[in-house]
Amino acid sequence: MNFNDSERIRGILRTMGYEPAKTWEEADLILLNTCTIREKPDQKVLSHVGEYKKIKEKKPDALIAVAGCLVQRAGWELVQKAPAIDIMFSSFNIHQFPELLNQAQAGYKAIAILENPPEDEDKIWEYPLERDNPYCAYVTVIKGCDKNCTYCVVPRTRGRERSRSLESILEEIKRLVEDGVREIHLLGQNVTAWGKDFKKQMHFSELLWKVAEIEGVERIRFTTGHPVDLDDEIIQAMAEIPQVCNALHLPIQSGSNRILNLMDRGYTKEEYLEKVFKLKEKIKGIALSTDIIVGFPSETEKDFEDTLDVIKQVEFEQIFSFKFSPRPGTPAASIENQIPDEIKTRRITELLEIQKTIMAKIAGRYKGTVQEILIEELRGKDTLVGRTTTNRWAEMKGGRELTGKIVRALVKEASPFNLTCEVLEVVR
Ligand code: 5AD
Ligand code: SF4
Repeated sequence: MNFNDSERIRGILRTMGYEPAKTWEEADLILLNTCTIREKPDQKVLSHVGEYKKIKEKKPDALIAVAGCLVQRAGWELVQKAPAIDIMFSSFNIHQFPELLNQAQAGYKAIAILENPPEDEDKIWEYPLERDNPYCAYVTVIKGCDKNCTYCVVPRTRGRERSRSLESILEEIKRLVEDGVREIHLLGQNVTAWGKDFKKQMHFSELLWKVAEIEGVERIRFTTGHPVDLDDEIIQAMAEIPQVCNALHLPIQSGSNRILNLMDRGYTKEEYLEKVFKLKEKIKGIALSTDIIVGFPSETEKDFEDTLDVIKQVEFEQIFSFKFSPRPGTPAASIENQIPDEIKTRRITELLEIQKTIMAKIAGRYKGTVQEILIEELRGKDTLVGRTTTNRWAEMKGGRELTGKIVRALVKEASPFNLTCEVLEVVR
């Protein structure tokens, strides 16, 4: 979501006459879009601003801006610690960025931090986005999250669920397709809840069908789905709509029922596994990926073993694992039995070791198969890079004329993160 916000912020800057600078020193504006999901990105912000301040000392007209979730969480505290900041706006105020920029250019401090999303938040959809990838585009369909996972700061930084209207989503996608985009990646903290907050409720599966009807949409992905909201209708739509990619990111967070309960995730290990096995049965060869938090307060060796058990049973193609990071104001941060960092490190290392073996095994299954790959980029003279529908990076030899095309290719070599292929034919 932050990445997509940055694309929007870049789009706004472009319409206001800004262009990317080659060096920090020549920049008229340095903008940092922040994340506060874990402590580490949070801590980096002040040291970055410190660096930019040195640049500003030599070029006093240069503006420093800080945006994003950290501003939502700690805004005023931030500007007290780093008075060099000229512009600050939170994740609720991106649509106000043009005004703020004008104010700052006129020499005022420009700060907008709202407690709640404003009424005119939807104005944001009218602003253009600047994207690096001409063939694959993120499209935000829902903002915020109504779940209250006890470790998570998102409901505090992004607010409650607000679905974007069907018309607005489809209109953006039509424009993207006209511009040559072939893969649409629907985005939201909890995409599977899309439409539940409409006066006349809609279901996420209806959105999938509607997007698929747009001529020129060759591929559809979506993140992040919540296991509770992933129901039979969505699974059915995924199985029946040819453009929906053969991949799903479905965060489990932990394999222990005791920890899942403390996290308030709303499902058990068994319920999660049931959905996974249904997905695997209905959608042959689906590539599953997940998020896991290691060292949640009070996590025992037995709890951790339960997580390892799920990993071994499901065989995820990819796992994003994180050490639990206490976030200010979240219930989990004040649970007494916090796990020491050495234990978190040991557990995450063990988990990654096991996952490495699984990934090598999965890679082996790709070798010798024929995959459909959307070519996204030409690197160097003749190396094409693209992704399979299962979201694997693949490299092959070929020329610029193949960029943006979907090709069928034979997998010659497969490593855990990359496939080396040979193009057989252009599909479309
Ligand atoms: N500590 C560690 N990981 C976290 N995540 C969210 N909050 C925390 C936290 N406090 C992880 C979850 C989520 C992913 C985006 O970040 O796994 O799915
Ligand atoms: Fe955070 Fe995701 Fe839970 Fe929402 S569903 S509170 S975004 S972890």
